[in-house]
This record gives sequence, structure tokens and C-alpha cells, in this order.
Amino acid sequence: MNITFRQLQIFEAVAQQLSYTRASEVLHLTQPAVSMQIKQLEQSVGLPLFEQLGKKIFLTEAGHEFGRYARAITTQLNELEQVVNEMKGLQRGRLTIAVASTANYFVPRLLATFCQQHGEVTVSLDVTNREQLLKGLVENSTDLVIMGQPPVEMDLIAERFMDNPLVVIAPPDHTLVEHQQIPLKRLLEETFLVREQGSGTRSAVERFFAANQLALSTAMEMSSNEAIKQGVEAGLGLGIVSLHTLGMELALQRLVLLDVVDFPIMRYWYIVYRSGKRLSLVAQAFQSFVKEESAQILKIPAASGLR
Ligand code: PGA
Repeated sequence: MNITFRQLQIFEAVAQQLSYTRASEVLHLTQPAVSMQIKQLEQSVGLPLFEQLGKKIFLTEAGHEFGRYARAITTQLNELEQVVNEMKGLQRGRLTIAVASTANYFVPRLLATFCQQHGEVTVSLDVTNREQLLKGLVENSTDLVIMGQPPVEMDLIAERFMDNPLVVIAPPDHTLVEHQQIPLKRLLEETFLVREQGSGTRSAVERFFAANQLALSTAMEMSSNEAIKQGVEAGLGLGIVSLHTLGMELALQRLVLLDVVDFPIMRYWYIVYRSGKRLSLVAQAFQSFVKEESAQILKIPAASGLR
């Protein structure tokens, strides 16, 4: 059956008015155009939908049946139109974002405010390390990514929106806690708990020490910031983590920041997507939201003592 939505609309008008003339007025068409469309529709269906008795027209049995389905289809279409309009108005929509594991310490707070402002947005959040984020961008499996320095060799649109200071953490009873302006070289006498290969924090730390022609001694490799903080607290070694990962630990003095020369290592957070990607309205809204409002929503922990 080869019928068009326009034919359905015309059929519905004629079925409602039971008159070609009145239907043509409602539809702003000529009466012959309406009769022609109904004739073509009846040909496609293969049965008459209307019958004329005297001056009046009536729906045939097939016409009644056809009317039932036509109404269901137009109702669905109207619903679809409403959903699309709501999406245009950002009331509804899906946001797929992937963030570096370190960014997960602040992204939920951003999402909470964003979702409050945009009622029915559903969010899919993937938390992973830098290597996996880059893979996601290559495979186009995510709308937006929040990460550290994006690679220059990839064709990306990246907007910087916040500082990401990397700091040295120690347990409160460590001998270096009382020292000030600890020389970088002094750190070589310590062992460090480091993040896994593929972590942005790890590669930034390695680049920083390589640039200073120094190599840290690694006690253990750990696949999360939480594991590093726990390990440092337990006395397994020192750690270098983003200040964003530290909140209660500093406030409760379970961990202390060491005052090391040339620290913090200053990194930045970027919101990133592939150039040429067509961002949905929700994704565009989230991108602007992060750029404009993150500074107000997120504050560097007060107990950091950073100078
Ligand atoms: P990550 O952080 O160490 O959790 O991968 C990302 C980054 O700082 O680039």
C-alpha cells in the first residue's frame, strides 16, 4: 500500500466533515484536488472508502477501519512532533560524556546542576583514563570528553575551562611535612605511588621530571587516585595527584601537601569533541554550561594551602 501522510490528513478531513466541499475549505484546497487525492488513496487501498447516497457521502466498512488506523497514525505523528519540539527546547535529550578518572571528582557536581536546569535530560557518563578517552574520540562513541591536555595530532575542538594543579601528598607524620621549599632533587630519596600507564596525571608527572632531568623512584603502580591516597595514608610512599581528588583527606589531615619547589605542576581541564562532529542541542548546552559556570560551581579545596 503506497499512501502518503498528506493523503491521511485529507482522508481524515473528509471523514470528519462527510463532505468534499467542507473538507476542501478546512484544508485550503480546491474541491477537485480533494476528490482526486481520495480517488488515488482508494486505488492504493484497493477498496472504496466512501460511498455516495443521494447528496450525502458515508464511510464504507473499509473506510471505518481505515479511519481507525489513520487516527492512530496521526496521533503518533503528533506525539513525535511534540517530542522533537521538546528536544529542540532542551527539555528532553540524551547526553553522552566520557571523563578522565580524575575529572570524576568534580563532574558529578556539574551534572547535578545541569540536570536540575534541564528537566528530562538523561546522561550517560563513562569514567576512564586518558588513553581510553582518546579511543572514544577516535571511535566517535561519545558526545563530549573532559580531559587534560588534548593531543595536538588529533583534529579536536578543545576549550580550556579550569586549572588542574598536581600536588605532592604525604602522610602527616612524614619527615618532609615540616620542611619548606623542598628541592625537587630531595624527592629522589623518596619512593612514589604512581598511576597506571595511560593516565594523564602519570604522563604529566613523567614529563615534568624528565624536563628537569630527574627520574622518580616508583614503589608501586596503582590504577586509581583513591588507591594512591589510601597507599600514601598507609605509609607506602608519597604520591602526586590532582588537587581535585583531595577534599576530606586534607580537611581531616589524613594527608598533607608537601611544599616542593616548582610545585604544583599546573595542568588544565578541557572540554573536547571531534572537529566536524554535530553536537546535539543538549551537548551544546552542556559545553557552554561547563565553560561558563564551572568556576562558580567548583572550588579548589580550601584546606589546600596552595600558594
Ligand atoms: P587521569 O587524568 O590521570 O585520570 O587520566 C586526566 C588528565 O589529567 O589528563
